[in-house]
Amino acid sequence: MSAAAKHTPLVLSGMQPTNTLHLGNYLGALKNWVRMQNEMPCLFCVVDMHALTQDSAYGKPADVMRATREVAAAYIAAGVDPKRTPIFNQSQVAEHAELAWVLNCVARLGWLDRMTQFKEKSGKHKERASVGLYTYPVLMAADILVYKATHVPVGDDQKQHLELARDIAQKFNNDFSAPDFFPLPEPVITGPGMRVMSLRDGTKKMSKTEESDNSRINLTDDADAIAQKIRKAKTDPHPLPADDKGFAGRPEAENLINIYAALAEEPVAKVIAQFAGQQFSGFKNALSDLAVAKLAPIAGEMRRLMDDPGEIDRILKTSAEKARAIAQPVLHEVKKLVGFVD
Ligand code: TYM
Repeated sequence: MSAAAKHTPLVLSGMQPTNTLHLGNYLGALKNWVRMQNEMPCLFCVVDMHALTQDSAYGKPADVMRATREVAAAYIAAGVDPKRTPIFNQSQVAEHAELAWVLNCVARLGWLDRMTQFKEKSGKHKERASVGLYTYPVLMAADILVYKATHVPVGDDQKQHLELARDIAQKFNNDFSAPDFFPLPEPVITGPGMRVMSLRDGTKKMSKTEESDNSRINLTDDADAIAQKIRKAKTDPHPLPADDKGFAGRPEAENLINIYAALAEEPVAKVIAQFAGQQFSGFKNALSDLAVAKLAPIAGEMRRLMDDPGEIDRILKTSAEKARAIAQPVLHEVKKLVGFVD
């Protein structure tokens, strides 16, 4: 039996309020969150403290606040039900930050030095990166462990951070002689949408920070924008392949087929068979119709929700109270284990 199995199942995940969410965030994570609500209790946070590590948010309080509300609106518009599932911003549950400090003392420099996301984000000038960016994965571990969450649905790019969270949990349990205190959280990384690539370059991840807006479909895009971006998406001159071996050296074809499969909730093999031998033009029309049918209603609902920020704020506030009620006793146990209280 895994350590997670000894704990009550609980899902925790989050997204950063930086720029607008895109199709990768939706297919890699959010879509799975909506499904998992029917399987076990869930908590979803808007990780505003993580956002502060990004240039697009640092020093821009109004942008952070707006993006926080917009991300909460996206969760709700995509189908997270705030009556059942708390949706809150991380900074409002101070227990995340308190536990993060303890976990900073558990995690080793060597572990953080291996994090590829820090290397990518800090670029050539590591010494100019913030300490917050470096310890980002420790705060992420605290987000999860402060609730003793057992399952963490994320996209493929977060795999390494989750392995680190498991290592931190294990080391804490060992060092403070509390076997099984923290569960070793299970990553839930599934489906053809776990790694959505840029529409302009099939070898690069679709991301909020890529300069060209045509590289991604934003969750706020309307039907015309979605259709136009799919029409402009990079392809190659060959017809669509008859099996997945035909994707070799054709990352754009593979990406578009994966996106179709994830949106249609069909196996990739079935989608390949459906379009085998066809030209991209026909396939793109079908993909565009599907994407508009699935995504435009989410954008519409987000716009409606953003017209009433007061209601979003009420949801964030009551959800933070619910989250705090779970986190407080865990943090109290941690304080006892490390010797802050007895
Ligand atoms: P963020 O905001 O960068 O990403 C949010 C989620 O979207 C997924 N994702 C993708 N999935 C598929 N294809 C893509 N191109 C793509 N781009 C992004 C990410 O994997 C993620 O699931 N570090 C987290 C935020 C976080 C968190 C946590 C997550 C902070 N604390 C605790 C889980 C548990 C992140 O990447 O956010």
